[in-house]
Amino acid sequence: MAKLTIRNLNVRGKRVFVRVDYNVPMEETDGQMVINDATRIKETLPTLDLLIAGGARIILAAHLGRPKGKREPALSLRPVAAKLADLINRPVAFVDDCIGEKVEQTAGLLKEGDILLLENTRYYDQEEANDSAFAAQLAKVADSYVNDAFGAAHRAHASTEGVARVVAGRGGQCAAGLLMERELKFLGDELENPPRPFVVILGGAKVSDKIQVIDRLLEKADAILIGGAMAYTFKLAQGYKVGKSLVEPDKTDVAKAALDKAKARGVKFLLPTDNTIVTPIKTEKLNKKGKPIIEFDKPRTNAEANIPDGEEGVDIGPATAAAFSEVILGANTILWNGPMGIFEDKRFAAGTNAIAKAVVDATAKGAKSIIGGGDSVKALNKAGLGNKVTFMSTGGGASLEFLEGKELPGVAALTNK
Ligand code: 3PG
Repeated sequence: MAKLTIRNLNVRGKRVFVRVDYNVPMEETDGQMVINDATRIKETLPTLDLLIAGGARIILAAHLGRPKGKREPALSLRPVAAKLADLINRPVAFVDDCIGEKVEQTAGLLKEGDILLLENTRYYDQEEANDSAFAAQLAKVADSYVNDAFGAAHRAHASTEGVARVVAGRGGQCAAGLLMERELKFLGDELENPPRPFVVILGGAKVSDKIQVIDRLLEKADAILIGGAMAYTFKLAQGYKVGKSLVEPDKTDVAKAALDKAKARGVKFLLPTDNTIVTPIKTEKLNKKGKPIIEFDKPRTNAEANIPDGEEGVDIGPATAAAFSEVILGANTILWNGPMGIFEDKRFAAGTNAIAKAVVDATAKGAKSIIGGGDSVKALNKAGLGNKVTFMSTGGGASLEFLEGKELPGVAALTNK
């Protein structure tokens, strides 16, 4: 890796400011915020263990949710401090602010190996504005800077980018943590010259979210398999009927261009040939945004390439799942990003689960499988298959931007080797 990593740092006795991505899903239960999935916390433990062993005085900073400069109590990181203490089996101090005297005092008292977690950086709107004065305040407790927040590395915020600039400006070192290093290795280096066949599976709602990734991967992949609602925009571009399925009619030209590029490059580009469809029915009930809740009636397989008027596609069908699985089982490298349907509803999870199983089976046969974060990770975990793939990213938006080939500001700000 071209950037310094924590393996290169001498941290003994130093105050090391570590940006982590502890933006974890939480739910209120009996008046308490409870963490639903601690993966992002667990994944930072190797970095923290190494820093503890090296004698660092550790100051952790993170964001939670999008409080937009307001002190929203439900978005406090206090429950995360308790969870981290449990997981790492040592005390974790917490200060209910991320800048100021209390922070400086507590950081000053840290001994080698001690950990302090600061309050949500997004309680200040200067965080997202990457305000330089705010970054300088954060940096007051930083002798060195470590970024282990891959999931937030696509944000040029004060704690992900600005602090690094301040520390580097003082001649301090800014390094990647072990999680950051792993993410960049699997989503970057490992996909530079992947063992072939290289099969890419993409799903999710929108072509517009993934088109840059598709365009870039068309240069490398042997096959691209498309599921999720974005498949309907491709089908529309090919002249098929998509009924009431979610589509982006203004993106059919982009979809056509991708289909043409695939053809020109000899990349297998597979779209669903059958689907699970439903009859969407508008109810009187309103959702949180005040919009009518749509119920999905009469789920059934539609074996036709066309989806009938008034019907909506919500998952790939069994023939598509079988055809996709066959391609996946022949792969040596697999990259998967995005579910095949509305997998959160178990009536429409069969397609996503079939893909998850094929990816796991291919991995067992020796293929390298890399899961690009977000919903595909959720789906794998839901199916109990999370530990049976080669790598699961902790980043959602960050992994997509990185796969698009964009430079991540949180990485760019680190010290070159
Ligand atoms: C994520 O959950 O993807 C990261 O923590 C970034 O969060 P954000 O999209 O609110 O910046």
